[in-house]
Amino acid sequence: AELGFDAEAAEKGGFEHFMLKEIHEQPDSLRNAIRGRLDFNLGSSVLSGMGTSARDLAEIQRVVLLGCGTSLHAGLVGEYAFEDLADIHAEVQQAAEFRYRNPLISRSDLVVAISQSGETADTLAAVREANQKGAFVMGLCNVVGSTIARETGRGVYLHAGPEISVASTKAFTCQVAVLLMMALKLGRGRRFSRDEGMRLAQEIDAIPQLVERTIEQNDRIAALAERYAASEHAFFIGRGYLFPVALEGALKLKEISYIHAEGYHAAELKHGPIALLEEGTPIIALANDIPGKDKTLGNVEECRARGARILGVVTEGDKEAAEFMDDVIEVPACHPLVSTIPSAVALQLFAYHVARIRACEIDQPRNLAKSVTVE
Ligand code: G6P
Repeated sequence: AELGFDAEAAEKGGFEHFMLKEIHEQPDSLRNAIRGRLDFNLGSSVLSGMGTSARDLAEIQRVVLLGCGTSLHAGLVGEYAFEDLADIHAEVQQAAEFRYRNPLISRSDLVVAISQSGETADTLAAVREANQKGAFVMGLCNVVGSTIARETGRGVYLHAGPEISVASTKAFTCQVAVLLMMALKLGRGRRFSRDEGMRLAQEIDAIPQLVERTIEQNDRIAALAERYAASEHAFFIGRGYLFPVALEGALKLKEISYIHAEGYHAAELKHGPIALLEEGTPIIALANDIPGKDKTLGNVEECRARGARILGVVTEGDKEAAEFMDDVIEVPACHPLVSTIPSAVALQLFAYHVARIRACEIDQPRNLAKSVTVE
């Protein structure tokens, strides 16, 4: 037994949990996901696994992103990226919904199945359905040789390295980084200019450093977590690119700390959830300095007026946004789409520390499985 314990401690590389180890691995995972895939000269990306010519890509009229859980949330960020960078109509569908709803699919659709494990039953069934209907189907998987990777036959691997903790962390940030590179590639075949592409390629290349700087705040976030760990409810709010990050932040917290956490679009607050606010209810507001920030700050103000305690994720040095908050976590300034990544990392650390303070079984939360191979 002693031997087993040592072996496990060694696998965790000195960290108390796999989740914390995997959060800290993200700068390297992201480097591996990005390495060799950016073309700075053309302002584009090189994703040979997509197995498509520029001509094939030019024929794509819609992108449909499929996934479950955290992978679904990465897809939601991807939806914005494809629309904003590539001017392609994009939509996200929960994989189980897609497989059973008799989806409208045509040969000009690019279907991207997002799955860390490559084995999720509903996502796999959705891939088979999309293949039946003649779409271009691609996998965005982490596990090499997994069923979804094999059945799609083309796609992009994350190269994030093995993810052991049930709560997904490094897979999410690598999924978002790869989706940004896919959108960049499609965009360059359309109206996204070389100059814009060159700038974005530089921004994507800098993601590992942004994440490093966010992780440097680990101790500060741990101290902040003490103030929220006793709550039984929490709301995460965001707009635009940060709306999916709010959903993912809430999912992380509920998965590992068992706090009832909900992610909402900030504008939806007054359509229901605001009724639940009491003195001290935690609101975690994604208020980075990107379009929509002022509106989010307005919503924060409404929550404060009802006694909520606000933890804001804000852009480094944004004193104006910080004024609205009780507590802040700063993330480095960067491209608005890219800002989803360091912001998600900040919320992973927050969830981790809250769960640790509550003495939860972090790597193996009750009722959850790493890979859901039955529907
Ligand atoms: C399970 C895991 C989640 C994961 C989801 C999708 O529910 O607990 O962390 O996001 O499956 O998994 P996949 O491997 O398809 O990304």
